Amino acid sequence: MWKRVCVVFVSTLFWSCVLSDDCTTPLGRSSECVSLYDCPDLLTAFEQRPLPPNVVSYLRQSQCGFEGYVPRVCCGPLPDQEATQRPTPRPRPRPTESSSSSEDYSPDDSSPAPRNKCGIDTNGDRIYGGQFTDLDEFPWMALMGYRTRKGTTTYQCGGVLINRRYVLTAAHCITGAIEREVGSLSTVRLGEYDTQSDVDCLDSTCADRPQEIPVASSFPHPGYIDGNKNRRDDIGIVRLAKRATFSYYVQPICLVDESERLTPGNDVFVAGWGKTLDGRNSPIKLKLGLPIFKKDDCVSKYRTLGAVLGENQLCAGGAFAEDACRGDSGGPLMKKRPDGVWETVGVVSFGYGCGRDGWPGVYTSVAGYIDWIKSTLQSSNQ
Ligand code: ARG
Repeated sequence: MWKRVCVVFVSTLFWSCVLSDDCTTPLGRSSECVSLYDCPDLLTAFEQRPLPPNVVSYLRQSQCGFEGYVPRVCCGPLPDQEATQRPTPRPRPRPTESSSSSEDYSPDDSSPAPRNKCGIDTNGDRIYGGQFTDLDEFPWMALMGYRTRKGTTTYQCGGVLINRRYVLTAAHCITGAIEREVGSLSTVRLGEYDTQSDVDCLDSTCADRPQEIPVASSFPHPGYIDGNKNRRDDIGIVRLAKRATFSYYVQPICLVDESERLTPGNDVFVAGWGKTLDGRNSPIKLKLGLPIFKKDDCVSKYRTLGAVLGENQLCAGGAFAEDACRGDSGGPLMKKRPDGVWETVGVVSFGYGCGRDGWPGVYTSVAGYIDWIKSTLQSSNQ
């Protein structure tokens, strides 16, 4: 049995040994990198049969190298244990991070989540024509909440968590018409699945309650011009008033590499709670697989509408009834890397209606904004 398990570890885990023994657990606690056998909490979790997918995912995120064939883990309690017991980092107690709930300026928040700590999804595999996601699928999805003039909160855009403190979304979800027509962006909801129920359950598993975090400040890209047809630089960063707590249902996504260029051969996914074919927003988090659309053809099509697409925009979809739609804006276009890690490659920006045959959706290409994202995190986190 161990052998089989070992294969699972070897084939699905990717990051290499770290030299230092100090590490940070997926829940953000300082601990030590030890053999799985020296970490009672994670070992007990690992010995469960059947092994729940969320435990597999947590173990994967906890891994910090190998000792021969035995994985080393950054030892600490599982999220469920953390809720019920005060954490005792093992094997040796160490001081834990200072309170994660205040408006502090931790240096960790100044950059997107590190490569081995993002984009990890427990799952194997309108939005128009979309499918339901699993409860814990795409745990980086965020719903953006707006304070209306009546004093209510309405959720109109999507976004993605890129570390504990920051969400990536579209500029038009922060500024311009949305402020006049809907209200000002005031809150971000993380770990949501079904907007119509308080506690979301699927196949007898229930998710933690969503985390609703007030917005501290927001940064639409300075190049974005409200009302401009081209929608260039439709990207923005939102700083949360307190740090999100990572769990099975709340995790950051990786950013695409600056050098990566997507081509029509790439398959990507879009996810969100936007309008579906029945004309209403979906209460359930949906996903849809799309092909990247040939850029030149996309540019020619949109030129006929008077929109001149730039280098930092990409097009995906184009098949009848398969598209993002109103309400999905700001949400991600995502790609699964060969090692199974998810990265965000685009931000839902605009389209010509939704799901029209031959008309792909237009997305802001994240690869063109990596430096801007990094510098915005850095300058707003001090
Ligand atoms: N701008 C829209 C919004 O506010 C999203 C547009 C995406 N449309 C599309 N056909 N892909 O939610």
